[in-house]
Amino acid sequence: MASKTFSMKFFSLLLISSFTIIQLATAGDPDILSDFIAPPNVLVDGNFFTFTGMRSVVTAGPPTTFKVFKASLAEFPALNGQSVSIAVLEFPAISTNPPHIHPRSAELLFLVQGTLQVGFVDTTNKLFTQTLQTGDIFVFPKGLVHFQYNAVANASAMAVSAFGSANAGLISLPNTLFNTSIDDNVLALSFKTDVATIQHLKVGLAPKP
Ligand SMILES: *[C@@H]1O[C@H](CO)[C@@H](O)[C@H](O)[C@H]1NC(C)=O
Ligand SMILES: *[C@@H]1O[C@H](CO)[C@@H](O)[C@H](O)[C@H]1NC(C)=O
Repeated sequence: MASKTFSMKFFSLLLISSFTIIQLATAGDPDILSDFIAPPNVLVDGNFFTFTGMRSVVTAGPPTTFKVFKASLAEFPALNGQSVSIAVLEFPAISTNPPHIHPRSAELLFLVQGTLQVGFVDTTNKLFTQTLQTGDIFVFPKGLVHFQYNAVANASAMAVSAFGSANAGLISLPNTLFNTSIDDNVLALSFKTDVATIQHLKVGLAPKP
């Protein structure tokens, strides 16, 4: 009898844990029960499904600082429930997209111009890097810290990134750590340095007056 209770308990535990694993594996934007979602009182025609915000990006000259142009849920409401979005990344010579995380999606980057060094770090702290040539595609797995770097001194680079979420989200490591009000002592202890060094890092990221 005791062993029967035990195996019942074990079986329920197994069920619960496999359910959790399935849930984790399918974590992403929720499925919707309609073809699309439109805000109330919005005229739904071809225009609703069209985003024109990238026209200026296509016609503009080379950038002077690293820039991201997004077509995600906030900019393009028709993406609501569609589990997709894109961003255009522009890199002047010697510029970087600092280490960051997209909590809700992988990123599929297509390099349309220039060469670009890219990398991500997995949960075992292993770094994977590559130097992409124009036309190459690289995937940054979901939720991992990654970066891009145009190391070329005389040429800009441009990439288009696709996401499997309408709102992939952005956690910028420099910003999250050194441009919020996390206590200097917490950061000094965490980075095994002193408070002065932490304050120096914070000054560099603080909004200019
Ligand atoms: C950039 O510099 C490299 C090496 O000096 C040279 O081969 C290349 O033609 C230059 N590219 C441009 C766009 O000026
Ligand atoms: C730091 O945070 C402020 C306020 O949110 C923001 O305006 C500024 O752009 C941030 N700095 C950087 C380097 O992102």
